[in-house]
Amino acid sequence: MSIDRREFLRTSAAAAAGLSLTTSTAEAADVLPVSGSQTSVAPLARPVVIASGNGLRGVAKAYEMIAKGSDPLDAIVAGVNIQELDPEDQSVGLGGLPNEEGVVQLDASCMHGPTRRAGAVASLEGIATPSLVAKAVMDYTDHILLVGPGAKKFALNMGFKEQDLLTNKSRQDWLRWKARLNANDNWLDHDDDISIKFSTGTINMNAVTASGDIASVTTTSGLAWKLPGRVGDSPIVGAGQYCDNTVGAAGSTGRGEANIKVCGAFLAVEFMRQGMAPEQALMKVMERVIAMTERRLLNDRGRPYFDLHFYALSKDGRYSSATAYQGGQFAVANEKGARLEDSAYLFKREERPARR
Ligand code: GLY
Repeated sequence: MSIDRREFLRTSAAAAAGLSLTTSTAEAADVLPVSGSQTSVAPLARPVVIASGNGLRGVAKAYEMIAKGSDPLDAIVAGVNIQELDPEDQSVGLGGLPNEEGVVQLDASCMHGPTRRAGAVASLEGIATPSLVAKAVMDYTDHILLVGPGAKKFALNMGFKEQDLLTNKSRQDWLRWKARLNANDNWLDHDDDISIKFSTGTINMNAVTASGDIASVTTTSGLAWKLPGRVGDSPIVGAGQYCDNTVGAAGSTGRGEANIKVCGAFLAVEFMRQGMAPEQALMKVMERVIAMTERRLLNDRGRPYFDLHFYALSKDGRYSSATAYQGGQFAVANEKGARLEDSAYLFKREERPARR
C-alpha cells in the first residue's frame, strides 16, 4: 500500500469531512470552494484537457481546437474520434475487440456543461464513431440514451455510414480466444500469440475552457468477449462520465461493472463540489469501488483483481487521475503542451494479484 498517500488522504479527507453533500449547484456558483490538501494551490491556467493514456493525440487535438475557440464538447469529441477511427486501438470504435459472437458493439456518452445536456448510445453496431452518435442524440432528440438496433437506425437516419468494424487483427484475436475456450472442441489452439484473454479499454476525455466551460465524453468497445448486449459504464451518464459546469468533470476506463455500482464519475464530481481536489476525490471514489466490490473479485488481502481508472478536472483547472494500482498514466494538455503523467494509486504494483 502507498502509505504516504493513504496517510495524506486520511488527513485531507478529515479536513473535508465537515462539508456536506447538500451544496447546491447554485451555491457552488462560479468558483469551486477549495479545501483539504489543495488549500494553498493557486488555480492552474486554463484551458486543460485530460484523457486516459490512449488519448495523447486526442488531448493535443482538443486543446488546439479549444485554444482557437471551439466548444469544449466539439473539441473532445474530435479528440476521441482519433482513437475511434484508429484500427490499432482495439478498445474503441473501428478495430475494437468484439463480443463472444465476434460482433463489435460500441458504447458512448457525452455531457455538455454550458447547456446541461447529455447524450448516449449503447450496443451500437456498424458505426465507428459512437461518440458522435451520442452527441447527435444530445443535439437532435429529447432523449438521452438509445440502444442496439434503435441506436443504429437513428445513426443511419442522421447520415452516419455503416462499416464492418471487425479488423483482421481483432477477428484473429477473437478466433484464438474462442479456440481456447474448450480443449476438446474442433478448434485448434495456437500457442504463439494468445496475449489477449480478455481486456477492457475505452477512452475518456474531459476539458475546461479558458472561460471555465466544461465537457466530458467516454467511448468504448467495452469488455472483450462480452455477452451480446452487455453494456458497461461508458454510456451511463454519471458512471462512465459526468460533468457539471459549476464544478468539474470526471470519467473512467476499465471494469465498468465495478464503476456502475458507485456511479463513479458523478461521485467524483460530488466530492469536488464538497471541496475536495480532483486527486482526493478520485482516491475516495477508488476506495468506495473497493468497498462495494463482491468478495470473489478481491484477494484475501482485499486487493481487486481488476483494473479501473478514473480521471477528473475541476472548473479552476486542477486535474488528476487515480487507479487501484501503481503504474497507470493519463494524458494531459494545457499551456505546457500534451504529455503523459502518472496516475495516483491506492496500492503498490507488487500488491497486484495475478488476474484470475
Ligand atoms: N469501461 C468500459 C466498459 O466496462 O465497458
